[in-house]
Amino acid sequence: MTQNMIDEVRTYWDRRPCNIRHSNAPVGSIEYFEQVEARKYFVEPHIPTFADFNRWRGKRVLELGCGIGTDAVNFARAGARYTAVELSSKSMELARRRFTLLGLQGTFYHGNIEELSSLVPLERYDLVYSFGVIHHTPRPERVIQNVLKYLGPDSEFRLMLYATMSWKNTMIAAGFDQPEAQSGCPIAVAYSREEVQTLLSGMEVFEYSQAHIFPYVVEKYVKFEYELQPWFKAMPKEMFHALERAFGWHGLIKARLPR
Ligand SMILES: C[S@@+](CC[C@H](N)C(=O)[O-])C[C@H]1O[C@@H](n2cnc3c(N)ncnc32)[C@H](O)[C@@H]1O
Repeated sequence: MTQNMIDEVRTYWDRRPCNIRHSNAPVGSIEYFEQVEARKYFVEPHIPTFADFNRWRGKRVLELGCGIGTDAVNFARAGARYTAVELSSKSMELARRRFTLLGLQGTFYHGNIEELSSLVPLERYDLVYSFGVIHHTPRPERVIQNVLKYLGPDSEFRLMLYATMSWKNTMIAAGFDQPEAQSGCPIAVAYSREEVQTLLSGMEVFEYSQAHIFPYVVEKYVKFEYELQPWFKAMPKEMFHALERAFGWHGLIKARLPR
């Protein structure tokens, strides 16, 4: 049963790896990867701030669910000793290719992060990082039990989980939106602040914030035109950012072993 669900998750992300359509250039070219990165951080500018790539120079970083590797190359470029696990072979193939093209070093494991300790040798990492992944897997609590084995007293676990109390979740519930760009995502769970702490049992959540309301007209956005929805266009920027901090879709979590 759970195996079937994992297969469904893998099939979904293999069919359309995350952000694969962020560029019209030939998939896998240098130009393609540059455009994917530019668009990703233009639309989600909170990611580089949250990941804080430069902080991990010379440190060991383990990413769970690297997708096509946009954050991955930024950790490696900043000088981190980078390791990733990814379920979708299509996504991982692109991430690996990206590292080769850019002459970066990284270690990649293909598999299910619910079985992390049977894939990645047990060692301490300074940072375990997972952006928008754990809410897509059938048994998230297994992932967390595994992550605990890779954390030392000074390690951090930074992750993004979808937030229940968000504009996006409200629009999904009202039938105006869907969780992912492609319909039919088999699993996409949103978490309240309290549910985050319950999921991360055995850890201390020392920072929680929310970010990201997607403000563009989708029909234009897919054509690389950035037109704000009229209700966001009418809003002063500061007001929009206040809304994002209170009702953003991305729950940005920093956790560690209890002190
Ligand atoms: C929304 S994408 C995010 C990718 C990347 N973190 C990013 O921000 O671009 C979700 C990713 O999680 C991966 N994933 C989902 N469940 C997984 C699992 N159980 N084990 C490993 N990877 C998983 C998917 O294959 C997909 O690449």
